[in-house]
Amino acid sequence: LKSDDVKPGSLVRVEVDGTAICLARTEGGEFRAVADRCTHEDYSLSDGSLWDDQVECPAHGSLFDLNTGDVTGLPAFEPTRVYPVTVEDGEVVLEL
Ligand code: FES
Repeated sequence: LKSDDVKPGSLVRVEVDGTAICLARTEGGEFRAVADRCTHEDYSLSDGSLWDDQVECPAHGSLFDLNTGDVTGLPAFEPTRVYPVTVEDGEVVLEL
């Protein structure tokens, strides 16, 4: 995946070795990656909204901090998993 293919302020779902990842690019151009499944119910966070460095679940509005995976808005209470993401030579590199 080329970093230029992901617009700042957007979320995309990517699958790596069968694991669904919600890849976020902040308005500032930084990449973040979390598991693409809300910890409340089975919805894709990549269908939600990006607010700075938080993602809002499309179903019931839970908020997750993309840096730590912590819940910052109910109804979810379990943190989500964060994956390291870097850009090398214009390619997005995810570490599972
Ligand atoms: S499924 Fe995400 S908040 Fe309910």
